[in-house]
Amino acid sequence: MAADKSSPMEKSWTIFKEYHIDEDVGFALPLPLEELPHPYDAWISIARNLPELINNNQLRVEVEKLAKLSIDGLRGHKAQRLAHLVLGYITMAYVWGRGDEDIRKVLPSNIAVPYCQLSEKLGLPPILLYADCVLANWKKKDPNGNMDILFSFPGGDCGKGFFLVSLLVEIAAASAIKVIPNIFDAVQREDTDTLQKALLDISSSLRKAKKAFSQIHGKYYYVDPNLFFSVLRIYLSGWKGNPLLSEGLLYEGVWDTPKKFAGGSAAQSSIFQCFDVLLGIQHTVGGVPSDFAAEFLQEMRTYMPPAHQSFLLSLKAKPSVREFVLSKGNATLQKTYNECVEAMVSLRNYHLGIVTKYIMIPASRQSKVERSSEEASESESKGTGGTNIMDFLKTMPLLNCRFLTGYREWRLAHLVLSFITMGYVWQDGETQPKEILPRNLALPFVEVSKNLGLPPILVHSDLVLANWATRNPGGMRDYMPPSHRAFVEEICGAPSLRTHVLSSGNGQLLTAYNQCVESLAALRTYHLALVTKYLITAPSKAKARRTSHLPRPPQALEERGTGGSAVVSFLKSVRDKTLEALLHPSG
Ligand code: HEM
Repeated sequence: MAADKSSPMEKSWTIFKEYHIDEDVGFALPLPLEELPHPYDAWISIARNLPELINNNQLRVEVEKLAKLSIDGLRGHKAQRLAHLVLGYITMAYVWGRGDEDIRKVLPSNIAVPYCQLSEKLGLPPILLYADCVLANWKKKDPNGNMDILFSFPGGDCGKGFFLVSLLVEIAAASAIKVIPNIFDAVQREDTDTLQKALLDISSSLRKAKKAFSQIHGKYYYVDPNLFFSVLRIYLSGWKGNPLLSEGLLYEGVWDTPKKFAGGSAAQSSIFQCFDVLLGIQHTVGGVPSDFAAEFLQEMRTYMPPAHQSFLLSLKAKPSVREFVLSKGNATLQKTYNECVEAMVSLRNYHLGIVTKYIMIPASRQSKVERSSEEASESESKGTGGTNIMDFLKTMPLLNCRFLTGYREWRLAHLVLSFITMGYVWQDGETQPKEILPRNLALPFVEVSKNLGLPPILVHSDLVLANWATRNPGGMRDYMPPSHRAFVEEICGAPSLRTHVLSSGNGQLLTAYNQCVESLAALRTYHLALVTKYLITAPSKAKARRTSHLPRPPQALEERGTGGSAVVSFLKSVRDKTLEALLHPSG
């Protein structure tokens, strides 16, 4: 982008429109169209009934009956995006059929011709993209803002969860895109206060994006790992690097030879790449991709809408925010910048955990159960974008331990790395384990393990003690003022006082430490006595005296505190845990 004064990044939303970025939904298409006029409604009708048609073995029959339509009647960007989405769904369903070995290597010309013409017009490849199935495949279900997808693949609600969670991540990150113009404005004016504030907004939005991500395990947008792995993943798979279609797909009437295109993958989202560029997170050296992962990410850009590709380029042409922060030597500003980078690392670590759950574990399970053909085994651990996941993810900046703050993050890192390691070693089943753990996985794993005093392998304390979550992960801490919570978390993250006292071998220090623990335990025992008096004994006396006009609390609530805990067992457990902390010279 030319660096003239009126360059599009300077101003705000009116200018973002040029890059097809929306104030509320970011890179997603705002309020996509749901219908196409006649004769294109024939495409819609097939796409809308896809699962049933596939199930009844009628999909290919119906597709082959379609008339070859000119795309001239598709007026406007939204109608064209809807047509691209619908033709993408039809193509995937036609090629992969029922998701078994009966696949098609030729796309008939009645679909191939309009699909390729439309793709050329939109500057997109002729395959189902993230820009289709996530960014343009949604509608508001009701006025409360609940959303639904427009089209589904077989696999029940799995697709809905996967597409809508991805969309929610996009929407959460939209508020971070919003502040990008302020960032460059502040850099230009050397206004560190405004920059500081804008960076804080970015890290907070990225944390919200991570929260949105976690809905993949939640009630409304739950994605079942087995359905994702064995059904949805098949329909999103492309014909590049895919042994099942090693030559690619022949688009009849368009090209004489088969063409290879990667399948729909969230790697085609502009979100992560946008913040990589903004923050100066490098996947290239001197503009050239530095390894396979960088090359793949660069290639994924060609699967993004051209306006979004231009936006990424425009960011790249701006002055480096990272260099500016470095040049100022301002510790607070550096800390805030680091928080943004850490939020990205944390998003990616979370994503790695999801990949393990949704691909690596089902893949290793399946390869144990059925190993029907060499081809099938090769495609098992492929991402929908066609990467051999571990090859791809292992070349990503996998985990830089200096970003891990606090014991909990180290434990989570051990859990995630051990899952990835197990997936990597056993991915080909027990008969062909991998004997060498790649360096970029081994190094952080060994470092994290050393720091925790654990062996570098999946251990019981990963599987059982660190592999659970509550609906309310922070527990009571979530109800504290944020500054107090931050204070408590900072203490959690600090080096262990207990370990220090133990390793010092100093008897006096040990006694002093134990006195503190005993005092805390005494406080809790006294509290327990108060609770017994006010909550346990009093209600049972009151029961005897209860008059009929007083409402009776539901039985389940009678012995619950206002925080909702089962009082006695909860308090006893807390007190006992306190006592367990007493140090004994032997360890
Ligand atoms: C079941 C859920 C998910 C699975 C199994 C999954 C799997 C994968 C895999 C295998 C890759 C490697 C590329 C490929 O071959 O496709 C990848 C990359 C990527 N995924 Fe996901 N993904 C999931 C959800 C998401 C969501 C909700 C987002 C957020 C929008 C996302 C964002 C990305 C990005 C940005 C990359 C590129 C790598 C990077 O920049 O870190 N993924 N994903």
